[in-house]
Amino acid sequence: MDIAHNLPELDAALEKLGRRVARKVLVPTMGNLHDGHLRLMTEARRYGDGVVASIYVNPMQFGPGEDFASYPRTGEQDIAQLQDCGVDLVFMPELSDIYPRGVDAHTVVEVPGLGDILCGASRPGHFRGVTTVVNRLFNLIAPQVAVLGKKDYQQCLLIKLMVADLGMPIEVVGVDTVRGDDGLALSSRNGYLSEAERVIAPKLYETLSWMAGQILGQRGYSGDFVAGVERQAWDRLEASGFKPDYVCVRRQGDLAIPQADDQEWVILAAARLGKTRLIDNLEVNLKPSS
Ligand code: PAJ
Repeated sequence: MDIAHNLPELDAALEKLGRRVARKVLVPTMGNLHDGHLRLMTEARRYGDGVVASIYVNPMQFGPGEDFASYPRTGEQDIAQLQDCGVDLVFMPELSDIYPRGVDAHTVVEVPGLGDILCGASRPGHFRGVTTVVNRLFNLIAPQVAVLGKKDYQQCLLIKLMVADLGMPIEVVGVDTVRGDDGLALSSRNGYLSEAERVIAPKLYETLSWMAGQILGQRGYSGDFVAGVERQAWDRLEASGFKPDYVCVRRQGDLAIPQADDQEWVILAAARLGKTRLIDNLEVNLKPSS
């Protein structure tokens, strides 16, 4: 496995990789890798013959007062795990490789509308940072495929839209969320939870599953019914000790409020537990009512 720490090393490593592989698959990460990330690496192998992982804690996607400084950086451990999964190349750039003229002077890429709702509303500027860095990684690495987790549902959708809007010749693949035995979605931020919070945390997924059960048990669409389920879910989360940012039912394709004839829904939630912000989602596919 090659490791590139800067742009000249990346160019050399890509040139070497390009002699051997026809289809490069990029898996962008911020490191502190867990089994969710590693699943993406394994999936990536199915879509091409060269897997490139990037590890970069991107300052542009963190707001003031967020956890950029304290975000866990575990480079050596990450490298060992990537080596074990058979990744071909790891790109671990410095800030000056990604933002040569500085973060504030850098050209931004922004998807309006979808980038401003849900997590975009709770974390202004967050998705601008995500699409800007992912666009830069796409340009530097020129993969044929990018693999992302559906755990960050809105992020995955935004990257698909960016690729389509900018006419990038990249296939974006979304991979199902990897969870612990108790249902909690694996996340680097789970490490912030206290022991007591870690016991409560699975209630987020439990609540989404309860919502899915309610929706699937209801025949026919009713906006009032869905709104009632959203309200009850909010109360359940609060009663468990969460401070919800949002809990809502949306359409899978564009995260708009579902209409009567929509069948592909996704339930999304973001909630704070102490100082940790957790997000999760669950796709619900309704059968056409006969
Ligand atoms: P990070 O949080 O490190 O996540 C990297 C990738 O792993 C993302 O595509 C994310 O959706 C996926 N992932 C995280 N937890 C997962 C889980 N439990 N199951 C499946 N996939 C999971 O997301 C980012 O980094 C950044 O925003 C990035 C895209 C790298 C841009 O900076």
